[in-house]
Amino acid sequence: MRSFFHKSIVLFLLAGLVASCADSDRPNYQFMPDMYESEGYESYGEYDIFPGGQSAMDPVEGTVARGWKPYGYENTPDGSSQAKAELKNPLPYTEENLTEGKELYTIYCAVCHGDAGDGQGILVEREKILGVPSYDDVGRAITEGSVYHVIFYGLNSMGSYASQTDEKERWQITHYVMNLKDQLEGNPEREFEEVGPTVSPDDPDVQAAQENVGEGTVLTEEESNN
Ligand code: HEC
Repeated sequence: MRSFFHKSIVLFLLAGLVASCADSDRPNYQFMPDMYESEGYESYGEYDIFPGGQSAMDPVEGTVARGWKPYGYENTPDGSSQAKAELKNPLPYTEENLTEGKELYTIYCAVCHGDAGDGQGILVEREKILGVPSYDDVGRAITEGSVYHVIFYGLNSMGSYASQTDEKERWQITHYVMNLKDQLEGNPEREFEEVGPTVSPDDPDVQAAQENVGEGTVLTEEESNN
């Protein structure tokens, strides 16, 4: 019994000795260093085993990102005149689309083109930029297609708005620009379009469809953008 008592004291002192050497300002021993020093690849690190030498690779050719549709016209004079002649606004001309178009226009375009679209935005008044046309400029004779095309690619000193806006937003802005053009030319207000019959939530078919919604539901465009 005595020797057990002695042994415990010695053990206790030894433990104290080891503990007192630990420095709380320095990292302690790492028992499983892999958890601290991950062996994963860095996105932009250089690694010979990947094509192109880095782990962040280009998407496979032909890949289309969710919620994004390719734009079929090239950024060339030919592409521009084709878009101008044949590209039409797929969005119905509704009050909602026009109002949203106006908001976006005020954010992105009005500084140069002016609230009225007459080319007299604040930057033009302050002589920060030159050559901003009015939307009723006869020589340019803008169309829905040409407006969308310039928003997508920009034109000379006007930058592209393709990264700040999605396809729907660009078409909403286009509706608003054509509306401003009409106003500048003194044309009568374009009538809003009726959008197909709205579905009532009391409809038995709609209720049945909602009950069937489960996993694997196709996301609406808005959801898939999140
Ligand atoms: C930094 C100033 C600036 C901003 C902001 C700007 N534009 Fe422009 N825009 C210009 C200039 C300058 C031109 C004339 C370019 C040229 O012909 O060289 C132009 C030309 C245009 C044209 C006529 C193109 C043609 O076919 O001749 C349209 C339409 C247009 N802009 C629409 C927009 C819309 C829509 C926005 C907002 C999404 C916008 N712009 C934002 C400066 C701007």
